[in-house]
Amino acid sequence: IDIKTLRNATNGVITIDPGFKNTGSCESAITFLDGEKGILRYRGYPIEQLAEKADFLEVAYALIFGNLPTTEQLETFRSDIKKQSVVDDDIKKILDAFPKSAHPMGVLSSLTSALTAFNSSSVNVDSEEEMYRAITKIMGKFPVLVAWTMRKKQGLPLNYGSNSLGYVENIMKMMFEQPNETYEVNPVIKDALDKLLILHADHEQNCSTSTVRIAGSSHVGLFSSLSTGISALWGPLHGGANQAVLEMLEAIKADGGDTKKYMAKAKDKSDPFRLMGFGHRVYKNFDPRAKIIKKAADEVLNDLGVEDPILEIAKGLEQEALNDKYFVDRKLYPNVDFYSGIIYRAMGIPVDMFTVMFALGRLPGWIAQWREMRLKKEPIGRPRQIYIGENERDFVSIDKR
Ligand code: ACO
Repeated sequence: IDIKTLRNATNGVITIDPGFKNTGSCESAITFLDGEKGILRYRGYPIEQLAEKADFLEVAYALIFGNLPTTEQLETFRSDIKKQSVVDDDIKKILDAFPKSAHPMGVLSSLTSALTAFNSSSVNVDSEEEMYRAITKIMGKFPVLVAWTMRKKQGLPLNYGSNSLGYVENIMKMMFEQPNETYEVNPVIKDALDKLLILHADHEQNCSTSTVRIAGSSHVGLFSSLSTGISALWGPLHGGANQAVLEMLEAIKADGGDTKKYMAKAKDKSDPFRLMGFGHRVYKNFDPRAKIIKKAADEVLNDLGVEDPILEIAKGLEQEALNDKYFVDRKLYPNVDFYSGIIYRAMGIPVDMFTVMFALGRLPGWIAQWREMRLKKEPIGRPRQIYIGENERDFVSIDKR
């Protein structure tokens, strides 16, 4: 049934569904998830296999273009991205103008938007060739913006990646390289980062992705659409949860490590506190990403020889929640972000950069969803409402109000 026939048949009836809990906004061939069974697949490939066997750039390619790449396709993609891995020097001036205290997500969203000023040919893209150019540009430049956002905060000189390194290795080099030293990639951290980025790469029509699709549906360019997604991701109910989780675990530790006290707080309806990193709109049995990340957290901490008491607090909370009626009844389980912060911290990434790392992983997903929406020529996103305001009334001059 086409939309005009439907509109006529329903006589203009509008469905109301706050939070879009039961509303599909599009048809998509990118990511399948079954919240009851805890299944997540990108382009049909199970997340467990991708996290175990693929690298992030391969997964990015599959998400964006539909299939895992051949060696040749991957090489072309890699080298096209590499050619775009520098940003205009004036971006440094914009970065410099931000106060050191600025939250990295605000800086990243602004810089991503600012890229439109220096890449005008990427703003209005219609053909697949133009889209490809815009995609390789942002895949190349985004890690530079991410690394520079962190380096500026840490007072480190701005740097670039190296031609001899892969995509994820270059992210690490740009983030962690110290002045007057040759950066050596630690393979344990590289593997863990690959995994984390893959697990975050797409998650169908979540808040930030829907934001990207709806902004892009006005045919504003890719970079502007992505900057709206970054802003949406920042919120603590979405990507900002990974920062909130670590801050919560730190607070529990500082308060003597009494997890039971915080479980009680989370259940107390008069207290706005929620157990951050628990619950998910779609997963109602377990989050398959959380399973993989929990294992990775153990491995990374072991390999790096880090003993983090926070990991024990996290495991304690998970255990208690599993046996707690409130959490069981509401199907609240650890989500992807419950353990990710522990790994990021062990890697030496500051807490306020955690959500930026999420954005780095989600980039290919946002791109894939934007590209699908444009190629399918979806109409502009424009929900309706039920008006509940005043009826018609007359204007009253200001001296009579
Ligand atoms: N701690 C305590 N209670 C919770 C929690 C929590 N983390 N999450 C949900 N609940 C309770 C609610 O109070 C509500 O209880 P009620 O039925 O008695 O009123 C019930 O569980 C259902 O919660 P809703 O908020 O209606 O569920 P919704 O699907 O709208 O929200 C969300 C999902 C936002 C993830 C929520 O669980 C939450 O706030 N979690 C904490 C933040 C978080 O970890 N966000 C990251 C999500 S994953 C991601 O974006 C990558």
